[in-house]
Amino acid sequence: MNIIRTKDYEDMSRKAASIISAQVILKPDCVLGLATGSTPLGTYEQLVEGFNRGDLDFSRVTTVNLDEYCGLPEENEQSYHYFMRQNLFRHINIPEDHTFVPDGMEADSALACQAHEDIIRKLGGIDIQLLGLGNNGHIGFNEPGPVFEKETHPVDLTESTIRANARFFERIEQVPTRAYTMGIKTIMQARRILIIVSGSGKADIVARAFWGPVTPQVPASILQLHPDVTLVADEEALAQVLPLHCYSFSPAALNHLPLQA
Ligand code: GLP
Repeated sequence: MNIIRTKDYEDMSRKAASIISAQVILKPDCVLGLATGSTPLGTYEQLVEGFNRGDLDFSRVTTVNLDEYCGLPEENEQSYHYFMRQNLFRHINIPEDHTFVPDGMEADSALACQAHEDIIRKLGGIDIQLLGLGNNGHIGFNEPGPVFEKETHPVDLTESTIRANARFFERIEQVPTRAYTMGIKTIMQARRILIIVSGSGKADIVARAFWGPVTPQVPASILQLHPDVTLVADEEALAQVLPLHCYSFSPAALNHLPLQA
Protein backbone atom coordinates (compact mmCIF):
# COMPACT_ATOMS: atom_id res chain seq x y z
CA MET A 1 0.00 0.00 0.00
CA ASN A 2 1.37 3.41 -0.91
CA ILE A 3 0.61 6.05 1.65
CA ILE A 4 0.80 9.69 0.72
CA ARG A 5 0.53 12.11 3.58
CA THR A 6 -0.73 15.55 2.61
CA LYS A 7 -0.80 18.87 4.45
CA ASP A 8 -4.54 19.35 4.30
CA TYR A 9 -7.72 18.69 2.33
CA GLU A 10 -6.68 20.86 -0.64
CA ASP A 11 -3.32 19.16 -0.89
CA MET A 12 -5.04 15.75 -0.71
CA SER A 13 -7.45 16.79 -3.48
CA ARG A 14 -4.66 18.03 -5.76
CA LYS A 15 -2.60 14.88 -5.30
CA ALA A 16 -5.58 12.58 -5.83
CA ALA A 17 -6.58 14.50 -8.95
CA SER A 18 -3.00 14.27 -10.23
CA ILE A 19 -3.10 10.48 -9.90
CA ILE A 20 -6.42 10.27 -11.77
CA SER A 21 -5.17 12.77 -14.37
CA ALA A 22 -2.09 10.64 -15.02
CA GLN A 23 -4.40 7.67 -15.61
CA VAL A 24 -6.52 9.64 -18.11
CA ILE A 25 -3.44 10.95 -19.92
CA LEU A 26 -1.72 7.56 -20.09
CA LYS A 27 -4.87 5.69 -21.13
CA PRO A 28 -7.40 8.06 -22.74
CA ASP A 29 -10.03 5.31 -22.98
CA CYS A 30 -9.66 4.24 -19.36
CA VAL A 31 -12.45 3.17 -17.01
CA LEU A 32 -12.64 5.30 -13.87
CA GLY A 33 -14.50 4.00 -10.83
CA LEU A 34 -15.96 7.01 -9.02
CA ALA A 35 -17.24 7.78 -5.55
CA THR A 36 -19.56 10.30 -3.92
CA GLY A 37 -19.58 11.87 -0.45
CA SER A 38 -17.93 15.12 0.55
CA THR A 39 -14.33 13.87 0.40
CA PRO A 40 -14.00 13.63 -3.43
CA LEU A 41 -15.49 17.09 -4.09
CA GLY A 42 -12.09 18.82 -4.14
CA THR A 43 -10.65 16.08 -6.35
CA TYR A 44 -13.47 16.58 -8.85
CA GLU A 45 -12.91 20.35 -8.78
CA GLN A 46 -9.26 19.77 -9.63
CA LEU A 47 -10.18 17.44 -12.49
CA VAL A 48 -12.53 20.09 -13.86
CA GLU A 49 -9.70 22.63 -13.64
CA GLY A 50 -7.41 20.23 -15.49
CA PHE A 51 -10.04 19.91 -18.19
CA ASN A 52 -10.53 23.69 -18.40
CA ARG A 53 -6.77 24.18 -18.76
CA GLY A 54 -6.84 21.79 -21.69
CA ASP A 55 -4.73 19.18 -19.90
CA LEU A 56 -7.42 16.50 -19.74
CA ASP A 57 -9.68 14.99 -22.37
CA PHE A 58 -12.54 12.82 -21.10
CA SER A 59 -14.13 12.14 -24.49
CA ARG A 60 -13.03 8.49 -24.48
CA VAL A 61 -13.19 7.89 -20.72
CA THR A 62 -15.95 5.76 -19.18
CA THR A 63 -17.00 6.02 -15.54
CA VAL A 64 -18.77 3.59 -13.23
CA ASN A 65 -19.95 4.68 -9.82
CA LEU A 66 -19.76 2.72 -6.63
CA ASP A 67 -23.28 3.10 -5.39
CA GLU A 68 -26.69 4.75 -5.46
CA TYR A 69 -29.58 5.18 -3.04
CA CYS A 70 -32.69 3.15 -3.75
CA GLY A 71 -35.82 5.08 -4.58
CA LEU A 72 -34.35 8.49 -5.45
CA PRO A 73 -34.92 9.51 -9.07
CA GLU A 74 -31.94 10.90 -11.01
CA GLU A 75 -33.35 14.43 -10.76
CA ASN A 76 -33.44 14.27 -6.96
CA GLU A 77 -30.66 16.50 -5.67
CA GLN A 78 -29.61 13.89 -3.12
CA SER A 79 -29.23 11.08 -5.64
CA TYR A 80 -25.71 10.08 -6.57
CA HIS A 81 -26.64 10.46 -10.27
CA TYR A 82 -27.38 14.11 -9.56
CA PHE A 83 -24.22 14.51 -7.45
CA MET A 84 -22.02 13.20 -10.24
CA ARG A 85 -23.66 15.39 -12.89
CA GLN A 86 -23.42 18.52 -10.73
CA ASN A 87 -19.90 18.00 -9.47
CA LEU A 88 -18.16 16.47 -12.46
CA PHE A 89 -19.92 15.26 -15.58
CA ARG A 90 -21.56 18.52 -16.70
CA HIS A 91 -18.25 20.37 -16.41
CA ILE A 92 -16.17 18.05 -18.59
CA ASN A 93 -16.46 16.53 -22.06
CA ILE A 94 -17.48 13.03 -21.04
CA PRO A 95 -20.34 11.67 -23.20
CA GLU A 96 -23.39 11.03 -21.02
CA ASP A 97 -23.64 7.46 -22.27
CA HIS A 98 -20.15 6.78 -20.95
CA THR A 99 -21.26 7.33 -17.35
CA PHE A 100 -22.80 4.56 -15.28
CA VAL A 101 -24.35 4.80 -11.82
CA PRO A 102 -26.37 1.89 -10.38
CA ASP A 103 -30.06 2.28 -11.15
CA GLY A 104 -31.58 3.00 -7.75
CA MET A 105 -35.04 3.29 -9.28
CA GLU A 106 -35.02 -0.33 -10.46
CA ALA A 107 -37.15 -2.07 -7.86
CA ASP A 108 -35.86 -5.49 -8.89
CA SER A 109 -32.61 -5.40 -6.95
CA ALA A 110 -31.18 -8.55 -8.55
CA LEU A 111 -31.69 -6.99 -11.99
CA ALA A 112 -30.22 -3.61 -11.03
CA CYS A 113 -27.16 -5.14 -9.38
CA GLN A 114 -26.51 -7.67 -12.15
CA ALA A 115 -26.79 -4.88 -14.74
CA HIS A 116 -24.08 -2.89 -12.95
CA GLU A 117 -21.78 -5.92 -12.75
CA ASP A 118 -22.38 -6.65 -16.46
CA ILE A 119 -21.43 -3.10 -17.40
CA ILE A 120 -18.14 -3.34 -15.50
CA ARG A 121 -17.36 -6.72 -17.04
CA LYS A 122 -18.16 -5.56 -20.59
CA LEU A 123 -15.92 -2.55 -20.08
CA GLY A 124 -13.05 -4.91 -19.24
CA GLY A 125 -12.87 -3.88 -15.58
CA ILE A 126 -11.98 -0.71 -13.75
CA ASP A 127 -8.54 0.86 -14.26
CA ILE A 128 -8.60 2.98 -11.12
CA GLN A 129 -11.26 3.05 -8.42
CA LEU A 130 -11.58 6.17 -6.31
CA LEU A 131 -12.90 5.55 -2.78
CA GLY A 132 -13.85 7.60 0.25
CA LEU A 133 -13.97 6.08 3.71
CA GLY A 134 -17.12 5.93 5.80
CA ASN A 135 -16.89 6.73 9.52
CA ASN A 136 -17.51 3.07 10.34
CA GLY A 137 -15.01 1.83 7.74
CA HIS A 138 -17.48 1.34 4.92
CA ILE A 139 -16.40 1.66 1.29
CA GLY A 140 -19.11 2.31 -1.26
CA PHE A 141 -22.01 1.25 0.91
CA ASN A 142 -20.38 -1.98 2.11
CA GLU A 143 -21.30 -1.75 5.75
CA PRO A 144 -19.60 -3.67 8.60
CA GLY A 145 -20.96 -7.20 8.84
CA PRO A 146 -20.10 -10.86 9.36
CA VAL A 147 -18.76 -11.38 5.80
CA PHE A 148 -17.34 -9.39 2.90
CA GLU A 149 -20.17 -9.17 0.35
CA LYS A 150 -18.81 -9.96 -3.07
CA GLU A 151 -20.61 -8.33 -5.98
CA THR A 152 -22.98 -5.41 -6.51
CA HIS A 153 -25.82 -5.95 -4.04
CA PRO A 154 -28.61 -4.18 -2.15
CA VAL A 155 -27.82 -2.99 1.37
CA ASP A 156 -29.74 -1.74 4.36
CA LEU A 157 -27.77 1.25 5.58
CA THR A 158 -26.65 1.27 9.21
CA GLU A 159 -27.92 3.85 11.67
CA SER A 160 -24.48 5.48 11.76
CA THR A 161 -24.35 5.87 7.96
CA ILE A 162 -27.89 7.25 7.87
CA ARG A 163 -26.95 9.75 10.59
CA ALA A 164 -23.70 10.68 8.80
CA ASN A 165 -25.47 11.25 5.49
CA ALA A 166 -28.38 13.14 7.07
CA ARG A 167 -26.32 16.33 6.73
CA PHE A 168 -27.12 16.34 3.01
CA PHE A 169 -30.90 16.13 3.61
CA GLU A 170 -33.36 18.51 5.28
CA ARG A 171 -34.62 15.86 7.67
CA ILE A 172 -33.15 12.52 8.74
CA GLU A 173 -36.40 10.78 7.72
CA GLN A 174 -35.62 11.73 4.11
CA VAL A 175 -32.37 9.74 4.05
CA PRO A 176 -33.01 6.52 2.12
CA THR A 177 -32.42 3.41 4.21
CA ARG A 178 -31.44 1.23 1.27
CA ALA A 179 -28.87 1.42 -1.51
CA TYR A 180 -27.20 -0.60 -4.24
CA THR A 181 -23.44 -0.83 -3.96
CA MET A 182 -20.55 -2.48 -5.72
CA GLY A 183 -19.40 -5.36 -3.54
CA ILE A 184 -15.98 -5.91 -2.03
CA LYS A 185 -15.01 -8.29 -4.83
CA THR A 186 -16.10 -5.77 -7.47
CA ILE A 187 -13.95 -3.12 -5.78
CA MET A 188 -10.99 -5.45 -5.21
CA GLN A 189 -10.99 -6.38 -8.91
CA ALA A 190 -10.16 -2.82 -9.91
CA ARG A 191 -6.61 -2.75 -11.23
CA ARG A 192 -5.70 0.19 -8.99
CA ILE A 193 -7.38 1.72 -5.98
CA LEU A 194 -7.09 5.29 -4.78
CA ILE A 195 -8.60 5.98 -1.37
CA ILE A 196 -8.78 9.52 -0.04
CA VAL A 197 -9.37 10.51 3.56
CA SER A 198 -9.39 13.86 5.30
CA GLY A 199 -9.92 15.27 8.77
CA SER A 200 -9.45 14.31 12.40
CA GLY A 201 -12.90 12.69 12.49
CA LYS A 202 -11.50 9.86 10.34
CA ALA A 203 -8.20 9.37 12.24
CA ASP A 204 -9.48 6.49 14.33
CA ILE A 205 -11.05 4.59 11.44
CA VAL A 206 -7.94 5.14 9.24
CA ALA A 207 -5.81 3.50 11.93
CA ARG A 208 -8.24 0.60 12.31
CA ALA A 209 -8.74 0.08 8.57
CA PHE A 210 -5.13 0.18 7.40
CA TRP A 211 -3.12 -0.69 10.51
CA GLY A 212 -5.56 -3.11 12.11
CA PRO A 213 -6.64 -6.65 11.28
CA VAL A 214 -8.42 -7.42 8.01
CA THR A 215 -12.01 -7.99 9.04
CA PRO A 216 -15.48 -7.52 7.51
CA GLN A 217 -16.30 -5.49 10.64
CA VAL A 218 -14.10 -2.79 9.02
CA PRO A 219 -14.81 -3.29 5.31
CA ALA A 220 -12.00 -0.98 4.11
CA SER A 221 -9.44 -3.21 5.86
CA ILE A 222 -9.67 -5.62 2.90
CA LEU A 223 -7.78 -3.03 0.85
CA GLN A 224 -4.62 -4.07 2.72
CA LEU A 225 -4.68 -7.16 0.52
CA HIS A 226 -4.99 -5.35 -2.83
CA PRO A 227 -1.73 -5.27 -4.81
CA ASP A 228 -2.02 -1.64 -5.94
CA VAL A 229 -3.63 0.68 -3.40
CA THR A 230 -2.73 4.29 -2.78
CA LEU A 231 -4.03 6.01 0.32
CA VAL A 232 -3.90 9.79 0.05
CA ALA A 233 -4.72 11.21 3.46
CA ASP A 234 -4.10 14.49 5.20
CA GLU A 235 -2.15 14.96 8.42
CA GLU A 236 -5.29 15.05 10.54
CA ALA A 237 -6.55 11.76 9.15
CA LEU A 238 -3.14 10.14 9.73
CA ALA A 239 -2.76 11.58 13.23
CA GLN A 240 -2.92 8.18 14.92
CA VAL A 241 -0.38 6.45 12.70
CA LEU A 242 3.28 6.78 11.79
CA PRO A 243 4.46 10.38 11.30
CA LEU A 244 6.28 9.67 8.03
CA HIS A 245 5.73 11.74 4.92
CA CYS A 246 5.31 9.05 2.33
CA TYR A 247 5.93 5.32 2.51
CA SER A 248 4.64 1.97 1.43
CA PHE A 249 4.21 -1.44 2.94
CA SER A 250 2.76 -4.78 1.90
CA PRO A 251 1.07 -6.61 4.74
CA ALA A 252 1.37 -10.37 4.55
CA ALA A 253 -1.70 -11.87 2.92
CA LEU A 254 -4.02 -13.28 5.51
CA ASN A 255 -5.70 -16.65 5.23
CA HIS A 256 -9.21 -17.60 6.21
CA LEU A 257 -10.96 -14.44 5.12
CA PRO A 258 -14.67 -14.78 5.81
CA LEU A 259 -15.88 -14.33 2.22
CA GLN A 260 -19.56 -14.75 1.49
CA ALA A 261 -20.28 -18.28 0.22
C1 GLP B 1 -21.20 7.65 1.66
C2 GLP B 1 -20.76 7.02 0.35
C3 GLP B 1 -19.33 6.54 0.41
C4 GLP B 1 -18.46 7.62 1.01
C5 GLP B 1 -18.89 7.88 2.42
C6 GLP B 1 -18.02 8.89 3.15
O1 GLP B 1 -21.76 6.73 2.53
N1 GLP B 1 -21.59 5.94 -0.08
O2 GLP B 1 -18.90 6.17 -0.88
O3 GLP B 1 -17.10 7.22 0.98
O4 GLP B 1 -20.21 8.37 2.36
O5 GLP B 1 -18.47 10.16 2.92
P1 GLP B 1 -17.68 11.48 3.22
O6 GLP B 1 -16.64 11.56 2.16
O7 GLP B 1 -18.71 12.55 3.06
O8 GLP B 1 -17.14 11.37 4.58
